[in-house]
Amino acid sequence: MDLVAPGPQPLPGLRPAAAALPESGIVEVLNYGRDRPGLIPLWVGEGDLPTPAFLCEAAAAALRAGHTFYTHQRGIPALRSALAGYHARLAGRPVEAERIYVTASGMQAVMLALQALVDPGDEVVMHAPIWPNIPAALQILGARPVQVATTMAEGGWRLDLDRLFDACGPRTRAIVVNSPNNPTGRVMPAEEIRAVRDFARRHGLWILSDEVYGRLVYDAPHAPSFLEACEPEDRLIVVNSFSKNWAMTGWRLGWLVAPAEFGQAFENLIQYNTSGAPTFQQHAGVTAVTQGEAFLAETLARCRDGRALVCEAMAGLPRVRFVPPAGAFYLFFAVDGEPDSRALAFRLVDRANVGLAPGTAFGAGGRGFMRLCFATSTEKLAEAMDRLAPALS
Ligand SMILES: Cc1ncc(COP(=O)(O)O)c(C=O)c1O
Repeated sequence: MDLVAPGPQPLPGLRPAAAALPESGIVEVLNYGRDRPGLIPLWVGEGDLPTPAFLCEAAAAALRAGHTFYTHQRGIPALRSALAGYHARLAGRPVEAERIYVTASGMQAVMLALQALVDPGDEVVMHAPIWPNIPAALQILGARPVQVATTMAEGGWRLDLDRLFDACGPRTRAIVVNSPNNPTGRVMPAEEIRAVRDFARRHGLWILSDEVYGRLVYDAPHAPSFLEACEPEDRLIVVNSFSKNWAMTGWRLGWLVAPAEFGQAFENLIQYNTSGAPTFQQHAGVTAVTQGEAFLAETLARCRDGRALVCEAMAGLPRVRFVPPAGAFYLFFAVDGEPDSRALAFRLVDRANVGLAPGTAFGAGGRGFMRLCFATSTEKLAEAMDRLAPALS
């Protein structure tokens, strides 16, 4: 596994699991180049537009109205019921508000889910490349991420389900699926979702489905969701976030869909982690969920334009290989003759003044690849491609 970026030796005295945590391979390059004048930042998973005014105003109105106190650990009832309605609409089947738990970010939703599921020594199987925070969260808990590499093939990234299932053993507690995938943009088809569900049911495993990019797909209204395929009593936890849909990355607001009968356990975990997501933000969250569809459509249109521009420009570079992503807002591409993508990321900061994330940050199968986030204006993307072309040619 090539998750661990070389870094300073861990300080003695910390818990070994904390001391041994790898620095994020994305943040490492970001810290190297973040203050460069004129740098075009395409390394992290966010666009260049601030949160839309109607959501900022909703948060300000909530502050003015005095929504500044501690609140329900599981989330304010209005937001839980808005999110239940949102999922019911998308999944075409009822989703009860009791299954919704509001969290202080998608990242925290991942952590809470794993805190609920894994003990030290447990294993969690996942396809890779994958967002590095998921395996890192497992490492904090003393559990072991088991990665099964997907491969780039003509027509899209391929996941060999037999290999995924073969990787599950006696210590396996859960399978993680992230679709649309960060970084490859792969969208798991509905028949694969059903196959994972059936396997998990047969073996008593949990499914942790990270669906934060579920609305950002280019050939369908939304990505197939485990919520469409599973019953409320299935061992399913879905992670989601306000970050990507509504340009709210800095807010740190997310949610989980999990079985209602674990409500008290999740309430306790939330109580002892954060004691609840920020109250005024949750009120703005209601506005995002109930009035945010037009903005989401604009975001998707912007991403579609960015994807087209970047794919066209990259297609003209003979050393670059990629398949157009089906979802999310990243292009994950290989550069022939550049096996060390970490070194390339640093070089591109120095020579092109463009920030990209190295594929090595994303675990198995990421070596030799780079990730570019195209959720940015086409003007900036065109300039970035002009700067990148000489270095990637
Ligand atoms: C796959 C995936 N899941 C979850 C998240 C968490 O998003 P946030 O913590 O901003 O809500 C991200 C963020 O990049 C992500 O890429």
